[in-house]
Amino acid sequence: MSKQKPQRTEAEARDKRHTLGTWCRQRDFDPTEIVDTEEFRFVTAEGDSILDFSSQLVCTSLGYDAQRVKDAVSESIQEIPYTQPGNSTRYRGELAEKLAEITPGTLNRTFFSTSGTEANEAAFKIARSYTGKEKIMSRYRSYHGATAASLSASGDPRRTAVSSSVQPDVPGMVKAPDPYAYGSSLDPDESLEYIDEQLMLEGGTVAAVLVEPLVGSNGVLTPPDDYLPRLAEIVHDHDALLICDEVMTGFGRTGEWFASDLYDVEPDIITMAKGLTGSYQPLAGTIVKEEIAEHFDDTLLNHGHTFSGHPVACAAGSAAIETYREEGLVENAGEIGAYLRSELEGLVERHPSAGERRGIGLHQGIELTRDPDKRVPFEERIDKVSGRTTVVDEVGARAYDNGVYFYTSMNTVVITPPLGVGEAEVDEAVSALDDALEHSDGKMLG
Ligand SMILES: Cc1ncc(COP(=O)(O)O)c(C=O)c1O
Repeated sequence: MSKQKPQRTEAEARDKRHTLGTWCRQRDFDPTEIVDTEEFRFVTAEGDSILDFSSQLVCTSLGYDAQRVKDAVSESIQEIPYTQPGNSTRYRGELAEKLAEITPGTLNRTFFSTSGTEANEAAFKIARSYTGKEKIMSRYRSYHGATAASLSASGDPRRTAVSSSVQPDVPGMVKAPDPYAYGSSLDPDESLEYIDEQLMLEGGTVAAVLVEPLVGSNGVLTPPDDYLPRLAEIVHDHDALLICDEVMTGFGRTGEWFASDLYDVEPDIITMAKGLTGSYQPLAGTIVKEEIAEHFDDTLLNHGHTFSGHPVACAAGSAAIETYREEGLVENAGEIGAYLRSELEGLVERHPSAGERRGIGLHQGIELTRDPDKRVPFEERIDKVSGRTTVVDEVGARAYDNGVYFYTSMNTVVITPPLGVGEAEVDEAVSALDDALEHSDGKMLG
């Protein structure tokens, strides 16, 4: 997300010398030094104040000034900087109780970890033990994390980039198609029938089907309204569990606490991270229905981490939930999301390269195209990891030069601001994107 810099700061140079950067060839690792933050903006060492319309990695949903969370971190670290997960603290119990309140239905008990990928790994073990079955089915256009099983469950090009004899997929993973009407030859209904058929053909060996209710980094895909309820039915007809990965969509992003709520679906397991603490502390959770939790009353839960239920992280999580509640952020995401949506529709009308707007609430995206009639993408999915500069990245860079940060991925500009933004911030961001889309318009065919 960096501008061309005249030269590296001392911190950037030292960082580059001694750090291995994420998801890139190290030649391309060029981190920007952030020296300050204010409400919805971050400030670079160059003195640029950038409006963050991505919430970093779709995670700083509270913006940067959630004082209650900052205070909870300072107080809890003074009181109990750490205790091992076999001990109890008021922080963990309080947070777990709040999660049981805000998640759908009878989801009740949470296993805590520190990242979204770990939340999914825990879900796989739990589902396998509970069902006595081995396989996990997930979809191609998905990202579930970087560790072995979660990456194997992902369809993201980051998986295929490492799938080889050096780093093979873990066994027991089955891939299914996605509800992606814009860019796939299968329509969403057909994709559901396909999943039904696959579950039958797998002969009762699938423990769980894992989906992002609204796909995030693989293109902000919004399914038809009846998709998730029908998927839940199909999955349960085959005696499998439904795991909803709400690492990105949880904690109000779509205008509901969880995207599953949009469709009145009660998943058997929800995985969460990112917005759980507004990302003020690394914390993730795998919440399960009470009947699944009870399976482990007499069966070993063969899983754990040193940092599971870390008191400081749990204190941050509790304070984050109080902040979402007291500031009405979930409701705001729905209301301001409607305004953002209509402004983005305006961009799609004005810019021929803006192919389709998708999303709900403050989980929005615009997919770019070379040719709106034939829906030709600018780049292939694999270009996410090829090291090539893509048109969507150039659009993101121009918006950044205009003072607004958007995450860009595989032909899609992801538009996911903190939940407290108002119309003024939306107007500023849309104007920056309006200008940046001139770039992709200029790169179209003919
Ligand atoms: C839907 C989804 N699941 C899982 C993950 C992995 O989370 P983490 O990076 O915290 O391991 C991500 C990360 O972006 C995600 O978007």
